Amino acid sequence: MDTLQNEILRLKEEKNAVILGHNYQRKEVQEISDFLGDSYGLSVQASKTKARIIVFCGVDFMAESAKILNPEKIVLHPNLKSKCPMAGMVDVKGLRELKAEHPGAPVVSYVNTSADVKAESDICCTSANAVKIVQSLEDSKIIFVPDTNLGLYVQRFVKDKEIVFWPGYCPTHMGIKVADLETLREQHPAAEILVHPECTPEVIEMADFAYSTEGIIKHVTSSPKREFIIGTESNMLHRLRKEAPGKVFYDVPNATCPNMREITLENVRDSLVKTQHKIELPADLIRKARVPLERMLRAGR
Ligand code: 13P
Ligand code: SF4
Repeated sequence: MDTLQNEILRLKEEKNAVILGHNYQRKEVQEISDFLGDSYGLSVQASKTKARIIVFCGVDFMAESAKILNPEKIVLHPNLKSKCPMAGMVDVKGLRELKAEHPGAPVVSYVNTSADVKAESDICCTSANAVKIVQSLEDSKIIFVPDTNLGLYVQRFVKDKEIVFWPGYCPTHMGIKVADLETLREQHPAAEILVHPECTPEVIEMADFAYSTEGIIKHVTSSPKREFIIGTESNMLHRLRKEAPGKVFYDVPNATCPNMREITLENVRDSLVKTQHKIELPADLIRKARVPLERMLRAGR
């Protein structure tokens, strides 16, 4: 641990704060996090914590979800520039129009959405439970926002429902190309290919498995295989190497999410020193957005 990391750990104790870090965080931020996880796991941690302050090291919608689940706590987002572009691709006006075109169809919103969009939704999902959540609904037609690729992944397992898609996508996962995975497979023929379900259908088709970020970690730590090609944000490799030290990992070219990397040790330290930047949402919005999030948490992973 360096001096800045030690300063953060001291401040965290002093202020009764917990640091939640997404699996895509920079290595040094992962190291000072109390809990690392995927969107689902971090929402669970946020709903259980006894700390007075939650410092959320992840993109905006993750910190917002922590606030929605803990309206009475102080939730700090160390850098407001850390925004998920996919979450910005769906808005309330457009969603209301789509709902009017498909009356009665429930809205399943990926957690990668704003609080406003969640408030217009029936249930949330993450990449860890999207299939289970859609299967749990009795309706024959559902609206799925905003990630088309995740919706198409769900459709592979849910043939009896019509899914109405929204044209959203993750720029980072759209950048993961079949050709790059083919090259890696030629170089490492014994390696398993693990990808995130935000990847394109062609990439998912050629992969051995598609999982949430935590699902990838669970698969690797329980697999008898030794080599893995990881088709998601390459910061994942820090945690994978730590938790599966005897195994070998290869990342794909250009798989970086610049938005996740906006969180640095400096801005985590500043957030604790200055109690910034507080996530503030209107009480009515929190009440409405909490319903689909809690419904998802009750359904489980
Ligand atoms: P996970 O919930 O799988 O960690 O994914 C979050 C995300 O933003 C993926 O790009
Ligand atoms: Fe958003 Fe994609 Fe970055 Fe995940 S990797 S936070 S979906 S832009």
